[in-house]
Amino acid sequence: MAVPAASGRALLLAFAVAMLHAAVCESNHTRFAMVARGRGGNAPSLRPDGGEGKGLAAVPAPAPSGSLGGCGCQPAPSGSLRCGCQPAPPPEEGFLNDKLKVLYPVIQAFKRNVTCDPKGVTASWVGTKLCDSFTGGGMYKGFYCDYPPDDPGTLTIASIDFNGYGLCAPSIAGFVDAFPDLALFHANSNNLSGNVPDLTGLRYFYELDLSNNNFSGSFPDTVVPLGGLLFLDLRFNRFVGTVPAPIFDLSVVALFLNNNGFYGRIPDNFGSTTAQYLVVANNQFTGPIPRSIYNTSASLSEVLFLNNRLSGCLPYEIGLVEGLTVFDAGGNEITGPIPLSFGCLGSVEELNLAGNQLYGHIPDVLCLLAKTGKLQNLSLSDNYFHSVGPHCMELVRSRLLDVRLNCIVGFPKQRAALECSRFYADPPQHCPFVPHIPCNLPGFRPPVALPDHLQGGGN
Ligand SMILES: *[C@@H]1O[C@H](CO)[C@@H](O)[C@H](O)[C@H]1NC(C)=O
Ligand SMILES: *[C@@H]1O[C@H](CO)[C@@H](O)[C@H](O)[C@H]1NC(C)=O
Ligand SMILES: *[C@@H]1O[C@H](CO)[C@@H](O)[C@H](O)[C@H]1NC(C)=O
Ligand SMILES: *[C@@H]1O[C@H](CO)[C@@H](O)[C@H](O)[C@H]1NC(C)=O
Ligand SMILES: *[C@@H]1O[C@H](CO)[C@@H](O)[C@H](O)[C@H]1NC(C)=O
Ligand SMILES: *[C@@H]1O[C@H](CO)[C@@H](O)[C@H](O)[C@H]1NC(C)=O
Repeated sequence: MAVPAASGRALLLAFAVAMLHAAVCESNHTRFAMVARGRGGNAPSLRPDGGEGKGLAAVPAPAPSGSLGGCGCQPAPSGSLRCGCQPAPPPEEGFLNDKLKVLYPVIQAFKRNVTCDPKGVTASWVGTKLCDSFTGGGMYKGFYCDYPPDDPGTLTIASIDFNGYGLCAPSIAGFVDAFPDLALFHANSNNLSGNVPDLTGLRYFYELDLSNNNFSGSFPDTVVPLGGLLFLDLRFNRFVGTVPAPIFDLSVVALFLNNNGFYGRIPDNFGSTTAQYLVVANNQFTGPIPRSIYNTSASLSEVLFLNNRLSGCLPYEIGLVEGLTVFDAGGNEITGPIPLSFGCLGSVEELNLAGNQLYGHIPDVLCLLAKTGKLQNLSLSDNYFHSVGPHCMELVRSRLLDVRLNCIVGFPKQRAALECSRFYADPPQHCPFVPHIPCNLPGFRPPVALPDHLQGGGN
């Protein structure tokens, strides 16, 4: 089924959202650009562990351990890899249409650039049947065809899915950018290197998955102008440097930047993101979680900041992001008390703040969420909290709340008293305590709803 051009974006969005909720899609839709998912079941699986938020940062499927065979030109024993050392003469006839005829030399040129192919997929890139998979054939593995919206009579390559192929190539420039009707490029777990080409000429392009490859250098700025992008996955590469602020202005549904070498502050326009899934974990980001996060409240569901070097106070505004189901800022240098606004996170299932420099009283309204909300796992270990209320006590007993390695007198496995008194004598930063709770909590009434200017601080 072709996507009508006018409503294409809305439909694509619907598709992408549907995709995000399907770990593995077994159906065989032939919707434009949906082919890769239907056939291979290879869609980027956002929650590969089947529901725990941690899946978002999980290591992508490891590369096949088969030999990374070199591609010399010596006569190869039958069944071994073919790397295009002796390209077949270009066929003139037999292409389904001119679009495919133009794409043939592009694929052959990329094939010559491939330096390892442990699964031997490039051996199937011969002949004129570029759309063989459309009719269930086995030629041109990784290439999937469909009818483009503006030319419903011409079958062409709509999607490339190299997930798990382990291909090595020094460049994807001159390749991915040469498919004018491409909507998806999925290349999880390969060994692709070089620059990310300018893909702005690809009208229908909306998913880029370069995760677990060999890309390096600074953030690939070429993705910034991709206004149609819904899914951007750069995790597990060797990118370094700052992240350009306009990335958070893209109307993506999912943005994965984790496990690279990104550093610098998370840009202040972070809150402009439309992402539902956003992972910046396991980088070297510094500075605070931007207060603009309140602005994501219409969309953000799972956000992972864990294992960076974020500091500063925990923003009150996080409590305004009503739809959060997973919030993970563990393993940073964040300080201050937990704002009472966290008690408004009625959908949160997993909240991890372990391994920071948080202090004060653990808000009982937060622990109440295990009863009135959906909270299942609250990790606050390895901080400097000094006390807990009755609801939190219950969670500690039922092991939903981990408070090991804090400063809670009378609790097991706490920090040494001296360490705690030193910390409290000179906390890393003074953070405002905001007593206001910006929501109506079932079973909890703030003592008095004072006007803002009359609210006292203190803890
Ligand atoms: C889709 O799958 C069904 C069975 O799962 C099969 O009968 C049908 O031929 C397939 N359609 C296409 C277009 O591949
Ligand atoms: C092949 O590699 C060269 C050198 O890296 C590059 O310029 C060219 O665009 C590549 N061609 C394809 C089709 O990948
Ligand atoms: C990439 O190549 C390196 C070195 O050959 C290898 O150790 C690694 O497993 C490869 N990664 C993938 C995803 O194929
Ligand atoms: C990974 O990229 C580096 C350049 O950044 C290159 O020297 C190396 O050969 C690449 N590894 C593979 C397996 O392609
Ligand atoms: C909030 O989001 C809107 C669009 O989603 C954006 O125009 C605005 O600049 C954002 N404000 C902040 C503070 O990020
Ligand atoms: C709870 O979350 C912590 C930190 O994210 C994690 O280490 C732990 O395994 C989780 N516990 C359960 C039971 O899921």
